[in-house]
Formats: sequence, C-alpha cells, structure tokens
Amino acid sequence: MNELIALRGTQTSLVLERQAQGAPLWRYWGPRLADDFAAGPALADEPCFKGFLLDQPLRLDVFPGAGLGWFGMSALEAHHEGRDFAFAATTTAIERTENGLIIQLNDAVAKIAVALRLSLDPVSDVLTQSSELTNMGDTTLDVQWLASGVLPLPANCTQVRHYAGRHANEWVLQEDPLGRATWLRENRRGLTSHDTFPGAVVIADGTTAHAGPAYAAHLAWSGNHRQAIDWIGDGRWQWQMGLGLAPGELRLAPGESITTPDMLATCSIQGWQGAARNFHQAMRDRIDWPGGAMEPRSVHLNTWEGYYFDHDEAALIALADRAAAIGIERFVLDDGWFHRRNDDTAALGDWWCDADKYPSGLLPLAQHVRALGMEFGLWIEPEMVNPDSDLYRAHPDWALHIAGRAMQTSRNQLVLDLTRPEVSDYLFDSISKVIADLPLAYLKWDHNRDLVAAADSTGRAAYRRQTLAYYDLLRRFRAAFPQVEIEGCAGGGGRIDAGVLPHVHRFWTSDCIDALSRLRMQQGFLQFFPPEVMGSHIGTAPAHTTGRSQGQAFRAAVACQGHLGVELDLRTLSESDEADLVRWIAFYKTWRGLLHRQTWSGSASDGLVWHAAGSPQEWLLFVYRTEPTAQHFAPPLQLPFVASDARFAVRRIDPGHDGKIAAYDASWLHHGGLSIPPMLAERAVIFHGIAADTGGAAHGQA
Ligand code: DGJ
Repeated sequence: MNELIALRGTQTSLVLERQAQGAPLWRYWGPRLADDFAAGPALADEPCFKGFLLDQPLRLDVFPGAGLGWFGMSALEAHHEGRDFAFAATTTAIERTENGLIIQLNDAVAKIAVALRLSLDPVSDVLTQSSELTNMGDTTLDVQWLASGVLPLPANCTQVRHYAGRHANEWVLQEDPLGRATWLRENRRGLTSHDTFPGAVVIADGTTAHAGPAYAAHLAWSGNHRQAIDWIGDGRWQWQMGLGLAPGELRLAPGESITTPDMLATCSIQGWQGAARNFHQAMRDRIDWPGGAMEPRSVHLNTWEGYYFDHDEAALIALADRAAAIGIERFVLDDGWFHRRNDDTAALGDWWCDADKYPSGLLPLAQHVRALGMEFGLWIEPEMVNPDSDLYRAHPDWALHIAGRAMQTSRNQLVLDLTRPEVSDYLFDSISKVIADLPLAYLKWDHNRDLVAAADSTGRAAYRRQTLAYYDLLRRFRAAFPQVEIEGCAGGGGRIDAGVLPHVHRFWTSDCIDALSRLRMQQGFLQFFPPEVMGSHIGTAPAHTTGRSQGQAFRAAVACQGHLGVELDLRTLSESDEADLVRWIAFYKTWRGLLHRQTWSGSASDGLVWHAAGSPQEWLLFVYRTEPTAQHFAPPLQLPFVASDARFAVRRIDPGHDGKIAAYDASWLHHGGLSIPPMLAERAVIFHGIAADTGGAAHGQA
C-alpha cells in the first residue's frame, strides 16, 4: 500500500496518500482519527464499475490538473501562448513543516511548478492552504484560475450554507442542496462584497447548529474570488477557492511566481457553531493588536447616524461632553470633517481639514475629547475620489478607468488606482499629515462603492493588484502609527474577510442598525469572525435603513453581542432613555470580558433566538423574542453549551433586573432547559450562569 501522510489537530485529521507518480491523493479530511487509524484499501484500488473508465483512472489529488484524465474541475487553468494547457506533476517532493506540509509539484512538460502549503493548527483545527505557482517556461504563462486549496467533502454532505446580501442587508443566509451540478459563487465587485461572502459551511443530513459534521471554508482575500464545489464521480465533492481573475489579469513572466491568498478551512462534529468557534480562534491569531494584546473593547460613540455631514464644532464639543458623561470611551468623528465635504457629492481625495467647520483644525476637538478621558477616532475613505475635488481636477488620470470608455460613478465617486505608487504616496502623505498632529487612537477606513473598469494605466485589469496595494497602504499606516487601531468598513460589511484582518481591529458589520435585522446578520458574521471585532451599535428608532422601531433595551441587548458603540443623536434622548443607556454601557463594561470569548447561538421555537458567550463554566445568555408568542407558555430553553459536569447558579442580570439566583444542574439545562420569563415581542432577557465549583465569583467581569 502507498504511504499515508497524516496531519492531526485536536478535533480533526487529514490524510493524504503518496502516489508513485503525481500529486498525493486526498484520502481524508474530517473528524479526528485515532493516532493508529487503520486505513482501508488505497483509494486508487478497484473502481466499482469499470465501464469505459480510463485504464488508469485518476482520483482526487491535492491539486487536480486538467487534460490528462481528470474530468472534474482543475486547480489550475493556464497556458504558455496557447500551449501547455494540461498539468500533472512529473516530480513530487513532500516536506514536513511544524504543523503541515509543503508539497512541491513540478511539471517538466508544461514547465510549471506549484508549491502547496498545508498547515493544520493543532489548537484551532483550522487548516490553512495556499499555492505558489512558478512559470518555469521561457514564455509568458497566462493564468485564468489558480486554486488556493482543494478539499474533499464526504459523500454524506447534503447542503451548503452561505451568505448573500446587499448594502445595509448583509449576511443573508442561503441554503443550497448539494448535487451533481457544480455549486459556484463568484464575486466580481473588486472588493469582498456585500453579496458574495467568500466562504461557506457544508453540512450533512441531520447536522444542526450544535451537533453533527460541519465543514467550513473561507478565502482570506478582500477582492474578487471564486468558490466552487464540484461533484467528483465517487459520491464525494471537491471544494476549491481562489482569486477571481479577469482575462489577462494574471500573466507570469519566465521565472516569475505568484502566491495565492490563504484558504482557511475547518471541520467540527459540533455542528456549524463548532466550526464557528474553530474559526474564531484562528481569526484571533491573525489579529495584530497595538501593544501585542487586545485591550478591553472600548465603547464607541460614532457621529454618523446622529449627525451625518452636519459638523458643527461647538455641537460636537457638547456631544463629546455628553458622551463622556454616559460612559463612552472612544469618540469617532465620521464622514464630513474634511475640505468642502458637506454631502456625498464632493471632496473625497482632498484630505485636509475643512477650515469653515474647524477653523483651528481638528486638534481642539480631539484635545477636548482626550481631556474628557475618551480616545479620539477619525473616518477616512482613502481609495476614493469625487470628480468634484481638487485631487480629481489635478489628476483625472488617477482614477481607475479603461481608456475610451465612460467612467461610472457610484455614490458620486470613482476609485483611485492604488497600483500607481504616486497615488498611494499621495494618500499616505496627505492623510498622515492630518493625523500626525492629532492624539489619534483610531481610524475608520471606509470604501463605499464597487469597482468597475478597474484597469491600470496600461489597460490591464488591476483588481488583484488593487487589493494588494490596499493591504500595502494599510501596512504603511500601521507602521507609521502603530498605536492606532483601524476599523474595516465598506458601506458597512462590504469588506469583511480574513485577508484584511491582520491589518484591522474591528469591522463595521452593516449600515443597518435595526436590531431585528442585526440579530440575523450578526449570526452570519459570527460564523466566521469573533465577537470582539464585530462592530455593533445602539442606533436610534426608527432605524434609518429599515424604518422599523424597537425599544432601546432590545437594541442594546443585540448590540452587546459584539464591540459596542452608540450611534444616535444624544440630544434627542429622553431622560429615562439616557439613564437606561448609561446602565447598558455599564453592563457592557462589566461583562465584556465574557462577551469576547467563546460564543454559541441558536434558535428555539416560537420566535426565540439566543446567543451565549463566555465559557462552558461561566456564561452570559441573551434570549431574544423576535415575534409575539403563539403559545400560552414558553417551553424551557435547552442549553447545549454548558459544562456537563457542574451545577450552575443562574441569575437574570439585564439592566433593571437584579434577579434571584436559581440553582440548576447541567443535565437539567442541557435536556430540561432554562425557564424563560414571559416576554413581549422584541424584548430580550439576559442570564448569567456560573458553575458552582468556581466559587460563585463571576470571572468574566472586566
Ligand atoms: C458608509 C459607512 O458604512 C457609514 O458608517 C458611514 O461611515 C458612511 N459611509 C460615511 O459616508
């Protein structure tokens, strides 16, 4: 039998089979196998029906190539001036790394070399794959498709859970059956996009949020992408993800190489929530916090929905006073502060302070904010230019465009060509000049349109290079201002992905702050990303993007799931709402240590949705009623996440309720369930549970 090569995580294993020739075969990726697992017969053994199969039929390998007997989707589509369309390794070398493998596949006939890197993190169980392609020929290699990774999915998989949406309505869950038709999602919007999240979860029949096999993958990339699940003839599927490439976009000169973005994947037998927790750990490893470690997530006041472009310095100073008084810790000045930015028709690109609104610059406001004990943050949208701006008038050619074609604005703006060094230099210099003089702790970095006609000055598609240049610009700012945290925003959630995560510290989840919509969207966000980077604000009622109204307590209870902020006009708050807001902010500060740890969520019958955070020994449980009850009594809520060998002291703790402690055995919480008090629609209740052997002291308090 051929040699088997295994990688082991805590809950997962993968097994490859070395072949005499060619790339190793995919034998297994799934729940953890015993160390001395006994593998069945080699995959390449007898077919169950030979029919007109090739005499040496190919099975799924780690990098299936076209044209030589593999009839499924190929991991590579490339050619040298119309030749060398087929790919198969003529020599293969496999090297072990600390947690993984480097598989070197050289095709001497096609003159193409591919190095695959696989690494299985033993703690998070997240498998990271990438491929590096080198043109070994003496003519240009034109690449149309290069998979970052290839994964096998077992035959009992039945469904793909993935996310669609639009601006102000992101993370709309889609559930597609898996069949023989290729499941394909492609994003051509130039940035991660609101409507095609680069990731999905594949489940088997009977898998639930908390039990059963779930296979999840995500492409760490902020640009165009392709993700495909392709039936492979033995009942299984292969899952590929990679860059989306426009024609001619990726051409490698002789000797040139390209490395793909990472494809991150994980598997859990604790359902799709188990996969989410694995991802949370891996994402946390990617974040580069100022000072090396996350500080408790400070409560924001963001000026956008309360003030929009109406920047009046005296009013903002008064707002800062009020914000500090209610417990806000970071004051973020959103869009509207720079030269002639009075609405969204003009000024993007002109990165200097508006002298009418701020006669002495931003420093007095920033200093006032600092003197009140808050941090100061500022909004920017570097990659954009309005045709009505000094920058565009001076450099119309700096916007991405195709010569001879009309330019298409969106929100009255065009996209700057960051691949031109002079453009990135201008942005770095002009924005640095503004922020260098400020006591700045935070930048909110926005991007409010899709890319079209994204050609560089030579007419070649520049989507991929634009994304790389965006990462470079972020790196420059991080290096120059290492103490500054950055929020990734793109009209809300248009650029949320693990590719940008090493450069940012928070995502603005959506421009929709309607708490009912947010409940659903936040579920999607938390499938891949941890709660501490999920920007979630208490907005106003009615919500600006939906027109729906919910009570402030419900809005606050939903916002407390993530990194809390307030985004409303404090001047309009009634005295009692202001007093309540103070209590909610204090509540968040008390519990943020638990809120930003492990999470679980689910839905029960009769319109109840729940979210829990902390650890199996100590947790906060939020129970939300999204609809009026259709029953006379609510059934107890079963809690699958509590540690199974403990007794719990459980207490209702939402602001305004100092509940009595009730004792529950874990088995009762698991199977019998927690009693839920009567709740009207769009209300929330919050419980704290702590295992008795922890001495009853709440550990999660910050
Ligand atoms: C879109 C963002 O998502 C909003 O939060 C706000 O920053 C606006 N842009 C400002 O133009």
